[in-house]
Amino acid sequence: MSELPIEDYALLSDEECDQRIVAAKAALGERVVILGHHYQRDEVFKYADFAGDSLKLSRQAARSKAEYIVFCGVHFMAEVADILSRPDQVAILPDLAAGCSMADMANLAKVERAWRELSEILDPDLAVTPVTYINSAADLKAFCGRHGGIVCTSSNAGKVLEWSFSQREKVLFFPDQHLGRNTGHRMGIPLDEMVVWDFEQPLGGLTREQIEKAKIILWNGFCSVHQMFQPEHIDAFREKYPEAKVVSHPESPFEVCEKSDAVGSTEMIIKTVADSAPGTRWLIGTELNLVNRLHEQFKGEGKSCHFMSPMVCMCSTMFRIDPQHLLWVLENLVAGNVVNRITVAPEEAEQARRSLERMLEVSP
Ligand code: 13P
Ligand code: SF4
Repeated sequence: MSELPIEDYALLSDEECDQRIVAAKAALGERVVILGHHYQRDEVFKYADFAGDSLKLSRQAARSKAEYIVFCGVHFMAEVADILSRPDQVAILPDLAAGCSMADMANLAKVERAWRELSEILDPDLAVTPVTYINSAADLKAFCGRHGGIVCTSSNAGKVLEWSFSQREKVLFFPDQHLGRNTGHRMGIPLDEMVVWDFEQPLGGLTREQIEKAKIILWNGFCSVHQMFQPEHIDAFREKYPEAKVVSHPESPFEVCEKSDAVGSTEMIIKTVADSAPGTRWLIGTELNLVNRLHEQFKGEGKSCHFMSPMVCMCSTMFRIDPQHLLWVLENLVAGNVVNRITVAPEEAEQARRSLERMLEVSP
């Protein structure tokens, strides 16, 4: 059958999508697996066969046997699924516009330029381990694979940095400066030994002395959602509820993580709330869909979960995956059509796999 056009799905109600998603999933059976990141909206999240943070979902993609891996998340996640799955498996992203604005803050041309510029001062292939956050394009993971580097997620960044320093004396960390700084600080690296590389400026806007002294060179990238959280939000909340606890994602600014009782990935945030005593009140610095879901899930135990910012800040790209797009890809699969396949070119995938496998080996 020819491809079913997305236009026919745009006006369907969520209720109609629900019935048809259930039917399409049943028709496909074990040929399809749906992976869902914790930031997905509830209308989509409920269809995930496996839910998780970036690390857990990468592992799930690597071990999945299904012919089709439908990734309800963002583009780099579907790329990782393609890289880590077998060549005959197909990774699908329901809406190709679901990118990650932080991942877009670093690209291969800029990172290669940084590497070249660093070579004016030191031999980067001997002195610097490149570390890319999983929130990055496949060609940056391949860059790390070629240069003895590694990938990290928010749940293994400490272990990955330990490994990186066992290889070489410095780290170039991209694209998220906050994850790099927060993790480095927790390992005892002084703030003045973590410098920010401004990719708009020659030599990152740094002096030779700053680069020679640095342990971690942090890319000037950030997540626009987590960037919104501020230490004043924590102060105001604690003033109102002195007994409250605070947990934040490490993409949040340094001052926010410093004031938090716990810092960790989305999976860790869920566990922290789940393990807390009945009645605990939480202020949570991560994406709104997850915070709302936690509130609903744990209110029966008397726990309450509050979103850290007074402004509504959702991840708008995660939000692009809606029931209409999910239904569209599933019904096309039933009709024998693959739409929105995400593929990484074989050579690039091979090099990216190297840096991802290094990460999986050192991950707890
Ligand atoms: P996790 O590693 O917690 O899944 O975070 C991914 C992400 O994009 C957070 O913004
Ligand atoms: Fe990217 Fe931030 Fe969205 Fe995570 S929350 S996918 S880092 S834009």
